[in-house]
Amino acid sequence: MGRRRRKPLPQEPVRATIESLAHDGKGITHSDGKVVFIPGTLPGEEILYKLTGRRRNFDSGEVVEVITPSPDRVEPPCPHFAGCGGCSLQQMEAGAQIQFKQQTLLDNFSRLGKVNPESLLPPLTGPVVGYRRKARLGVRYVPKKGGALVGFREKQSGYLTVMDSCMVLTPEVGEHIGDLRDLISEMDGCNKIAQIEVACDDHQTLLVFRNLEPLSEDDQARLDSFGREHKINIYLQPKGPETVAPLNPEQRTELSYRLDQFELEYHFLPTDFTQVNSTINQAMVPLAIELLDLKAEDEVLDLFCGLGNFTLPIATTAGHVVGVEGSEELVQRARDNAERNQIKNAEFFAVDLQDEETGGVWLNNRYNKVLLDPPRSGALEIVQKMRKIKPQRIVYVSCNPATLARDADELVNNQGYRLLSAGVMDMFPHTAHVESIALFEKSD
Ligand SMILES: C[S@@+](CC[C@H](N)C(=O)[O-])C[C@H]1O[C@@H](n2cnc3c(N)ncnc32)[C@H](O)[C@@H]1O
Repeated sequence: MGRRRRKPLPQEPVRATIESLAHDGKGITHSDGKVVFIPGTLPGEEILYKLTGRRRNFDSGEVVEVITPSPDRVEPPCPHFAGCGGCSLQQMEAGAQIQFKQQTLLDNFSRLGKVNPESLLPPLTGPVVGYRRKARLGVRYVPKKGGALVGFREKQSGYLTVMDSCMVLTPEVGEHIGDLRDLISEMDGCNKIAQIEVACDDHQTLLVFRNLEPLSEDDQARLDSFGREHKINIYLQPKGPETVAPLNPEQRTELSYRLDQFELEYHFLPTDFTQVNSTINQAMVPLAIELLDLKAEDEVLDLFCGLGNFTLPIATTAGHVVGVEGSEELVQRARDNAERNQIKNAEFFAVDLQDEETGGVWLNNRYNKVLLDPPRSGALEIVQKMRKIKPQRIVYVSCNPATLARDADELVNNQGYRLLSAGVMDMFPHTAHVESIALFEKSD
């Protein structure tokens, strides 16, 4: 039996008013009671759109014309914005993006957390272009599209976008996407590069090419001259992350960044987690420290501590700090960073914090303050353990307002904490990602 043919989608443009924005930044309208998501639109706008997809619970559309633009509409600064899925809010003025993210945070708190912050923190903002110093770029060799493609996936498909530049990436890489495409197109192993990882520190730019097969001598020479021409350190990754190594072994470099306010320097490896936006990180860490209201006698627990980004600054004021992190490698990096910075009152443990059975000596200590900075999935398992730890203050840094709100529900409605304040931090301008910080306190 043959496959059932899909009915072709109607092609005539439909007129609609955008009602609101979804959490991923797409405009929402309804047609015959069914929700339609239309990227690149803004609330209140009257538009013409064409259907691009039909699912059981929602449709997708593509804007054909904006008839009545929103006062928040601006010309998207990037020529690839319409197609590239890397950004979703470039059509929106920067201040309005912050308002949207703040509203998303508050909506999540009240809808999923049944809680409202007692006050709003002023947003932390920084540069809205050229801010991204960590990224994973897809690579694919597609001769019918003119050779290699390098970049992010398209908004409406899983295919890589045809792009020559990216304005949110650090310019040392973002201005050379076209050069990277030319480089890979010329390589003997043009279809053997799966992705390129971008890792920058305060001084240098590093690209890790994930090569699925060993590269020919000519390809190695091409990469070498590309690196020299553009002042980029080229690394290869033939297999898992432990195989990442410089193209030229004598060019092994240590990446590092500084937190000036605390006079701390961190060393890291290209595949380690580091905060993507250096300017926001420089402001976020002091804000978290201020909210913790640290005293010399404090015993602090830093959960999901990574390479010690918050732990070391905490240690400069608190009596003692324990950093807990799932990755053994990052825990080692945190210990090394503490030693390099002559910090002696910080200890680190490698533990899976999302395991309900989590335990260990570190959990038996007494802590009066806790900092949490979990991945998108949040920290419910360890937040439930706050009943036992009983910290007086908790500062929660979040990259997902839905899991923050869920965890806030546990802290406020089940454990009796107050949500004193919360605010957004513009870690990912032009995207719909919402980074935020929240302060919880318990008086008894
Ligand atoms: C958002 S990052 C924060 C890292 C660090 N606080 C910083 O500012 O650089 C989240 C961290 O959680 C760690 N992580 C993810 N899942 C974990 C788990 N199940 N248990 C413990 N740590 C985990 C990641 O390795 C990562 O370092």
